Amino acid sequence: MNFLQVIEQRRSINPLDATYLQPKEELIASLQSILTYTPSSFNKQTQRMVLLLEHSHQQFWDLVIYAIQRIVPVEQFERSKAKISLFRNSLGTVLFFDDTYATKALGNQFPLYQDSVETWSVEQNGMLQINVWNGLVSLGYQANLQHYTELIEEQTKEAFLIPSHWKMMGQMPFGVAKIAPNPKEYIPLVNRFLVRD
Ligand SMILES: Cc1cc2nc3c(=O)[nH]c(=O)nc-3n(C[C@H](O)[C@H](O)[C@H](O)COP(=O)(O)O)c2cc1C
Repeated sequence: MNFLQVIEQRRSINPLDATYLQPKEELIASLQSILTYTPSSFNKQTQRMVLLLEHSHQQFWDLVIYAIQRIVPVEQFERSKAKISLFRNSLGTVLFFDDTYATKALGNQFPLYQDSVETWSVEQNGMLQINVWNGLVSLGYQANLQHYTELIEEQTKEAFLIPSHWKMMGQMPFGVAKIAPNPKEYIPLVNRFLVRD
């Protein structure tokens, strides 16, 4: 698949099958390359990633289920659990973080940009997330993007020995698509894209 085919194929997919399409080491190396080559403001590389596979991946989604159980009404819990169990049944999860020490240091280094560094940390994390998402598609997988952050950030850092100054930005379960995506509507480009020549 070329680049445009990859970004067209990328969709939010759930359920996902827990099947490796290449040796685990190759998958890890690909994700490492994506992290390495994703840009960041002033090249400060504040993005951080944690790849959860196998037992850790399941343990993470068990943490989410447990956290959800504590906040949703009993009658809603089974439905929530069924949805989150689909994430648990996927192949792995990429957790995205920003290193708050590195981002703060950038603000201190360039007082003129103090107000922008937080925005940039989010933007460059989004760049990493879409690179990972598309990168997974190029490897034959699909994924989806979740935000259970407030419910599970602390427990996750504790469970997986993640530095406390890494701020969690999102969770991306991935695996082999078990279903085709629903058709998606696109706003006419005439409303979204201008060309001036
Ligand atoms: C910044 C951002 C945040 C998102 N957060 C969530 C989320 O928390 N939960 C979820 O199920 N999907 C989330 N999504 C997925 C979007 O709903 C999805 O990308 C959108 O509906 C378009 O569908 P597609 O990904 O299949 O193209 C998020 C997407 C983006 C870009």
